[in-house]
Amino acid sequence: MQTTAELREGLLSFFESRGHLRRPSASLIPPAWDRSTLFTTAGMQPLMPYFLGREQPPAPLLTTTQKTFRTQDIDEVGLDGHHLTFFEMLGNFSFGQYFKEGAIAYATEFVQEQMQLDWDRIWVTVHAGDPDLGLGPDEAAIELWEKIGMPRERVTLLPTSENFWSVGGPGPCGPDSELFWDWGETFGCRQPDCAPGCTRCDRFLEFWNLVFMEYELQADGSLTPLPHQNVDTGMGLERAASVLQNVRSVYETDGYQAIMDWIASESGVAYGDSDAATKAHRILADHGRGMTFLVGDGVTPSNEGRGYVLRRIIRRAVQQARTIGLDDL
Ligand code: ALA
Repeated sequence: MQTTAELREGLLSFFESRGHLRRPSASLIPPAWDRSTLFTTAGMQPLMPYFLGREQPPAPLLTTTQKTFRTQDIDEVGLDGHHLTFFEMLGNFSFGQYFKEGAIAYATEFVQEQMQLDWDRIWVTVHAGDPDLGLGPDEAAIELWEKIGMPRERVTLLPTSENFWSVGGPGPCGPDSELFWDWGETFGCRQPDCAPGCTRCDRFLEFWNLVFMEYELQADGSLTPLPHQNVDTGMGLERAASVLQNVRSVYETDGYQAIMDWIASESGVAYGDSDAATKAHRILADHGRGMTFLVGDGVTPSNEGRGYVLRRIIRRAVQQARTIGLDDL
């Protein structure tokens, strides 16, 4: 497994061979009943009625790769090598079947045996607990990680802001546990407490989130149990490809090469020529992909809602294009 395409197919067929039904990506435009976000922002979003127990899933285990678009990251794009507005989220989903143990076991098997990553460079985070939510630290997840061979010093506890996942409002939610790749001390801040979640440096890259979805967040902020204990996972395809290919940014992975080469040859300015050029290439590549998929799913530029977001990324892309001499776009 080396290319982005092999990673995508590898994950879907891995879970398929373990009893998961493969389903196609849903649209970037959520259905009318889903008012939680403007765009589809996670693999679980089209599956919400199944998690809530309001509809029967087509199978108790599913696997998908979902087109996603996150508006909250628009201004981050270009500043580093891994923030994107548009990306694919790979995932496996269990509706009342396996829970924490199964999710952790599958993720471990996939990164060790399929991606063949160096286990010593993987760290994990676990929910530290939250008195406001009435939850203690996720001891079960800590124990399961230790049992499967993750040394306790590479298990970091993080608060609700980092390790409790919800769709951004009322709906299915739960504590989560994330897998991080360690790029190595040379990329770190070298402080004794540097670990996943470090805000001083980007030594650690989060690439797979395992959500233990067992609650429904109510409008008043309280949690009620869902009918079943479920699993929702999300692996950022582009980030995971950068780990697999040992390149520090998604823009250097094979999946971006056609668009990055086009930008360089049309502008005559190479990626990495200057900080401004690097930023321009990144924004053009990400927003170019984003606008293409938004238009493909029926969004048109306008002054409000989804159309405004599309207009905004087109405008940002055009502004950046001009900085590298692409005036005719
Ligand atoms: N729903 C989880 C996420 O988007 C997996 O991170």
